[in-house]
Amino acid sequence: MGSADLTCRLLGLEMKNPIVLASGIIGTSSSLFLRAAQVGVGAVTAKSCSLQPRAGHPNPVALDWGAGVINAIGLTNPGAEEEVHLLAEGRRILEPYGVPLIASIFAGTVEEFGQVAALIAQARPHLLEVNISCPNVADEFGTPFAAVCESAAAVTESVRRAVGKDLPIAVKLAPNVYNIGRIAAAVVEAGADAITAINTMPGMVIDAHARRPVLHNRTGGLSGMAIKPIALRCVAEIAHAVKVPIIGTGGVNTGEDAAEMILAGATAVGVGTAVWYRGVEALGTIAQELGAFMQAEGIRSLDEMRGQAIR
Ligand SMILES: Cc1cc2nc3c(=O)[nH]c(=O)nc-3n(C[C@H](O)[C@H](O)[C@H](O)COP(=O)(O)O)c2cc1C
Repeated sequence: MGSADLTCRLLGLEMKNPIVLASGIIGTSSSLFLRAAQVGVGAVTAKSCSLQPRAGHPNPVALDWGAGVINAIGLTNPGAEEEVHLLAEGRRILEPYGVPLIASIFAGTVEEFGQVAALIAQARPHLLEVNISCPNVADEFGTPFAAVCESAAAVTESVRRAVGKDLPIAVKLAPNVYNIGRIAAAVVEAGADAITAINTMPGMVIDAHARRPVLHNRTGGLSGMAIKPIALRCVAEIAHAVKVPIIGTGGVNTGEDAAEMILAGATAVGVGTAVWYRGVEALGTIAQELGAFMQAEGIRSLDEMRGQAIR
């Protein structure tokens, strides 16, 4: 029997394997993009950027609490103008490796999402990820866009209007919603070409001796192994609700975890916190482990296994 075929087609993009560096992990400089490409990642996502630069939250901002990581980095980024240069350079560096570049944006209002998208489109990323887990500052309660079908759809429409038809859009959903399938259907209806799921899950870690939360921000986003079952459930629900490709993300630490994500219906697999635990090499090692798993199980291609667990 020949070796398993790991090639992955995400919208129009050809990837050598389905592993995608998740946003916010190391996607902050072109040398780190290069490092990810060199270790064999399928595609990279840059850290989310906003219209204006953001300093982020005071330390401590991240902690390994035992079953995963909690972070409240606070979306630190240099702002869209600077990001355009970083992305253009990143795209040039990734080209020889055949590794697509995914840009990521966020904003506080529907209109600002359109403005950031228009700026970032100038760098010609292969895909634009729209991080809607941030609060809607125009809403009385500052509810995240990702929590309400109407605001999630309004952001998607605004970004679609700003970038036209040429640049594909993936909308990144949050796990802490009642019915993620309905949110996915709303953004697809509004023009999303793909869904990324999930972002981190809100949580709190308390130091009993200090009698206070560990993070300066008190709460943060949980990632890593603790959220894998949540991510798998979300991906399965989205796969039932919509037909567009899903970048299944959350708690993937090994090749077998990646297989589970594809079995739940994902087309590609985001990897973030595994880089914390296993180093940048994880981005290539997880792909190799996935290939070995498929080989051992007699699975020849990703298409053959996609969604098999949820039929
Ligand atoms: C330190 C850190 C920073 C992150 N920053 C971003 C970000 O800027 N934009 C975003 O969409 N997601 C961000 N995320 C979420 C990840 O992209 C991913 O959705 C989440 O961590 C779940 O995947 P994982 O368990 O493989 O890490 C961040 C996660 C971590 C741990």
